Amino acid sequence: MRILITGGCGFVGSNLTKSLLNISTVKKIIIVDDFSQSNAKYIKRFHPIKRIYTKNNYVKSKNRVEIIRASVDDFDFAKKITKNVDYVIHLAAESGVDKSISQPHKSFQINVNGAMNYLESARINKIKRFIFASSGAVFGDSKPPMKENNVKNPISPYGSSKLSIESFCETYSKVFNMKTTILRFSNAYGPFSDHKESIIAKFVKNIRDNRMLKINGSAYITRDYIFIEDICCAVIKCLHTKKLCNTYHVGTGKETSIKDLIEKIKQICHKKGIQIPKIVVAKKRLGDMTKNYTSISKIKKEINWKPEFTLTHGLSETINYFFK
Ligand SMILES: NC(=O)c1ccc[n+]([C@@H]2O[C@H](COP(=O)([O-])OP(=O)(O)OC[C@H]3O[C@@H](n4cnc5c(N)ncnc54)[C@H](O)[C@@H]3O)[C@@H](O)[C@H]2O)c1
Repeated sequence: MRILITGGCGFVGSNLTKSLLNISTVKKIIIVDDFSQSNAKYIKRFHPIKRIYTKNNYVKSKNRVEIIRASVDDFDFAKKITKNVDYVIHLAAESGVDKSISQPHKSFQINVNGAMNYLESARINKIKRFIFASSGAVFGDSKPPMKENNVKNPISPYGSSKLSIESFCETYSKVFNMKTTILRFSNAYGPFSDHKESIIAKFVKNIRDNRMLKINGSAYITRDYIFIEDICCAVIKCLHTKKLCNTYHVGTGKETSIKDLIEKIKQICHKKGIQIPKIVVAKKRLGDMTKNYTSISKIKKEINWKPEFTLTHGLSETINYFFK
């Protein structure tokens, strides 16, 4: 298998690359990442990278992992690099809700145009399956648990950008008979998230650095927190599914309030002898949903995937990672 991952140097991409390297049939992983949010540092921790290419000096090599520093906004390069690839996993995105509100046009350029460049290139080059990383943000502030077919009502440009590409994936499957999979990840956490501003990464970094923990809005805001290894497992399972187009929620199906999350983190830190800094409540962020958790019955039933990590286990692994 030859797999191309856009945004492969990021949080999900680095963990996914690590998991894919454990599969003997994966002969090549090509990463296209512009290093805007991250760089090759995580991948270098588990796999030797001799050279970082640019789109101008890229040459095929015998290396199992090739990293090309390039933006997904270049359609000509997208067509060139997806030739002779079996699968495209499109992760590259401007993934912050806040940033999409302060820079909606940029969010559109990266999340919509960039994804279209790779979806269309995958069609032209007859890729076996295009996997698109989407998000529960497509639902907006609707009543959980979110099922795949619930009404979509995004409340941020980020959510709208994801919904737009979901629609294109479905259309490409219908019109061009192209295999696509839409995976809506819940709130992911785990190793290689040093650069992330998501709540668990931020809390654990602040605990490590003895900085105040800030809760945005209310401690009763809920989310569905999923450990990154479970996400990687779901993505890999989807490579070989048969259906033409499928959409799945990749979460735990469990609702956790920030209050309960902090309580769990406190208990784990207490056992490890780690001190917790002061906690303050700040203003609610625009575009943030109040309650959010997903239903995972569809993915369980159709591809026999379920999360293996409890929140306590995943948090403990994450804390170990950040305190190493
Ligand atoms: N982490 C989560 O909790 C979560 C939840 C739902 C959906 N998602 C989606 O999963 C995907 C991966 O998320 P992540 O948490 O790994 O984010 P991330 O920011 O860690 O990774 C994204 C990667 O894309 C790269 N990138 C950004 N713009 C680019 C461009 N124009 N060209 C090429 N590369 C570019 C960044 O440098 C980064 O390495 C995103 O599409 C995100 O929207 C993530």
